Amino acid sequence: MRSLRSLVPLLFTASSLATNSSYSPVSHPQVVTRVVYQFPKPTWLENIATLRNGTLITGILGSSAEVHLVDPTTNTASLLHSFSGFNSVLGITELDTDIWAVITANYSPTDGPTLGSGVVWKIDLQNSDVKVDKIIELKDAGMANGLTTLNPQTLLFADSFHGNIGRVTLSPNGSATYTVALTGTNLDANPNGTMPLGANGLKYAAPFLYWTNTWESRFVRAPIDAQTGERVGEDEVLDEEQGVYDDLVVARDGKTAYVVRPYAKTLVEIALPVKKGEKAGAPRFVVGGTGSTVLPGATAATFGRGSDRGVLYVSTQGGNTGDNGEGVTLEGGKIVAVYLNGVGAC
Ligand SMILES: *[C@@H]1O[C@H](CO)[C@@H](O)[C@H](O)[C@H]1NC(C)=O
Ligand SMILES: *[C@@H]1O[C@H](CO)[C@@H](O)[C@H](O)[C@H]1NC(C)=O
Ligand SMILES: *[C@@H]1O[C@H](CO)[C@@H](O)[C@H](O)[C@H]1NC(C)=O
Ligand SMILES: *[C@@H]1O[C@H](CO)[C@@H](O)[C@H](O)[C@H]1NC(C)=O
Repeated sequence: MRSLRSLVPLLFTASSLATNSSYSPVSHPQVVTRVVYQFPKPTWLENIATLRNGTLITGILGSSAEVHLVDPTTNTASLLHSFSGFNSVLGITELDTDIWAVITANYSPTDGPTLGSGVVWKIDLQNSDVKVDKIIELKDAGMANGLTTLNPQTLLFADSFHGNIGRVTLSPNGSATYTVALTGTNLDANPNGTMPLGANGLKYAAPFLYWTNTWESRFVRAPIDAQTGERVGEDEVLDEEQGVYDDLVVARDGKTAYVVRPYAKTLVEIALPVKKGEKAGAPRFVVGGTGSTVLPGATAATFGRGSDRGVLYVSTQGGNTGDNGEGVTLEGGKIVAVYLNGVGAC
């Protein structure tokens, strides 16, 4: 059987794709950044989201499946939960008010994912005693990677290895089922390629599901049904061939997306089509880029939910030295606040 070792290049050797001169240079000269919190080296932060009270929630990949809370007002972190038997957290989303869903799995930075190892959990933060329950084991999925909430009964995740969008439906009695909700060229994986991962980051921002496809270097959206998650219109490719995209966030007004590019060390802004037939704007750097140390290995982004609603918080995996991936982590994963000064946010 072919070794999953070939997955490694995805995570470590993509810097050849990292620069594209068609990017506009710094588009927000007024942008200011601040390190909110840095974890010890090496720590790979893979996801980030924001609780209702403004505290950030992040998960670790490749060492221990830990979920941490980071308070951007005090710049402190605390362990919320550690999932034994797994080494990675691969998705975090708010399922319902103060009820969070998390994907854990086994993922080796040297050997790739353990296929079918994904499990979805519920973390109930409604009361001071945190309750953690298993929702479903995703034995039939390949690599469950990235999680978004469609409605309080339905979660969608990217299956980066099978190249589709999976759906987890929760029943009132606590049972859950897994089915494939979306397939298609823009989701496809490339199992024989050096960069095999297809659909990767995803976010539901009604009426669209937005996602990135890693090997295709695409950023895509499709209108989906709010109950089933199935397509109700055609895919729109919002950007392609700029390099490796990871996770993304859509501004509350639905007019702008912010997508991170780990190897290019940047956060890019893309103006979204608002009217039918309109095209997405060309991606623009918000911050970071070649030679920058602000966002090495950016993995995901989230908006503040308090008075910091215009602030984007970006998680990183610490970056890597060298262009060919066998390099060493530069620094511990960190959370960086990016103050957009109101631009593109609301
Ligand atoms: C840069 O982007 C342009 C426009 O999307 C594309 O045609 C070109 O192939 C890209 N170059 C690289 C090196 O990715
Ligand atoms: C926000 O909520 C979480 C979960 O209940 C809690 O641990 C944290 O301390 C809260 N943050 C603030 C700033 O109150
Ligand atoms: C829970 O509900 C689902 C669908 O609503 C049903 O298929 C399943 O059998 C129920 N499970 C139990 C243990 O009652
Ligand atoms: C990948 O390679 C294997 C072995 O050569 C082949 O059987 C399979 O069809 C290929 N898959 C794709 C999607 O190209």
